[in-house]
Amino acid sequence: MKYLLGLAVVMTTFPALAADLTKMEALGKTVFFDPSLSISGTQSCAFCHDPAAGFAPSSPAANEGGGVVEGAVAGMFGNRKPPTAAYAFAAPPLHHVMEEGAPLFLGGGFHDGRATGNVTGSVLADQAMGPFLNPAEMAMPHAACVVARVCAQGPETGYDVRLTDLDPQACAMPLPETLGADCATPGADITLDEETAAAVDGSFRLIARSLAAFEASSAVSPFASRFDNWQAGKGDLTQQERAGFALFKEKALCAECHVLDPGPNGEPVLFTDFTYDNLGVPRNPQNPWYAQAANAAGNEWIDRGLAATLEGDAIYAPFASFQEGKQKVPTLRNVDARSGPDGRRSYMHNGWFKTLEGVVHFYNTRDVLPACDGDATEAEALAKGCWPAPEVAANVNHDELGNLKLTTAEEAAIVAFLRTLTDERP
Ligand code: HEC
Ligand code: HEC
Repeated sequence: MKYLLGLAVVMTTFPALAADLTKMEALGKTVFFDPSLSISGTQSCAFCHDPAAGFAPSSPAANEGGGVVEGAVAGMFGNRKPPTAAYAFAAPPLHHVMEEGAPLFLGGGFHDGRATGNVTGSVLADQAMGPFLNPAEMAMPHAACVVARVCAQGPETGYDVRLTDLDPQACAMPLPETLGADCATPGADITLDEETAAAVDGSFRLIARSLAAFEASSAVSPFASRFDNWQAGKGDLTQQERAGFALFKEKALCAECHVLDPGPNGEPVLFTDFTYDNLGVPRNPQNPWYAQAANAAGNEWIDRGLAATLEGDAIYAPFASFQEGKQKVPTLRNVDARSGPDGRRSYMHNGWFKTLEGVVHFYNTRDVLPACDGDATEAEALAKGCWPAPEVAANVNHDELGNLKLTTAEEAAIVAFLRTLTDERP
């Protein structure tokens, strides 16, 4: 579904160069790579958002199988594949516009938009408060633990910028003496008096805002791919890559959703209009979430995507049933960035796809090839020439994908084009 982003604000102030981060961005960078901010002391944001893999996960175990990365507490898994943390900064808060008499939802962070941007005013800052406290991610029992640990850092521990450099009062609140021990205990019950809680909340938001600033900086989102150089007239693409781009725009309909317009603030093309769609992606039977104690539905669990987010909203709840199975259109920048020659990637919200060839073949033939007999991995489906049933049968988009009538050479050209979207790092 194509939605032209409003270009009212054409304000093109791009972040400073990687080597030249603001204090806010520099603090965010240190926090992003700091494993001491997880309960095990071993998991930083970068564990699941590896710069070498375009800020998506590089974990072979996750990419080859269930897509989901294990959290800081051994054996704890969430339910989705981590998307890239790069270029997400441009997402507007979750909102709707009316289109043909029905609301079209766009914006928000996470695959399902539940980081709405309504808490801090920034989608990424709302998002950044999630992983620290998520029991299946960094698993810290309370925001006070994160604040206390960041406050304890300084140049001697690799923090060139301290939290108090951004706000002199950020570490001034009195914290309970038992906090250190409690913070090492998963699920510990930590209660603070109202005033301390409010101060902790303010400092936690400041940490989240520093992460958001880092993610928006050119250190994470540099717009420095071969495609960008070519657009700027500074380099060339091969004939096959250019043919792939032409197909992407026209015959293959990719740009209907992975749009080529400037971003909401005039950013270079982001390859997403931040809308939601159900592509009919198969369930990933290897998703470790099916066997997690926290998943009451067991093997019957399905990923409802945007519907579950809307259901929790007083105004949007009545529209939830029309959004079952819809996931956010992701950026395609760095879809082929890999941590090395054997680096693995997986695609879509559940990581069922392991190859870009498989993804493009699916868009081309989803409605042409026969249904597989039950669940199958991508490799099995490609070998047998079938596609498993969609994870969510409702709302599957049949208008813009499923039978594109692309030749094998055209599929290959689109894949070649996608590979030009990898940022070249200094
Ligand atoms: C254990 C793995 C893990 C860790 C650690 C982790 N994330 Fe994530 N991240 C995920 C998953 C999974 C999602 C998608 C969740 C969903 O959609 O329900 C995600 C989503 C995101 C997104 C949303 C991107 C978008 O397009 O909306 C951003 C940004 C992000 N993470 C940043 C961070 C930051 C900052 C940290 C550290 C504070 C962090 N992540 C730590 C797994 C992780
Ligand atoms: C109808 C809108 C729509 C169209 C058309 C579309 N996409 Fe997508 N694309 C999406 C959505 C939504 C997702 C995420 C789905 C999910 O997670 O289940 C996605 C995901 C992807 C991914 C996986 C990215 C990742 O990081 O996991 C790739 C690659 C991709 N699309 C490439 C393409 C190409 C190439 C085309 C054209 C052949 C195309 N898309 C056409 C909406 C669309």
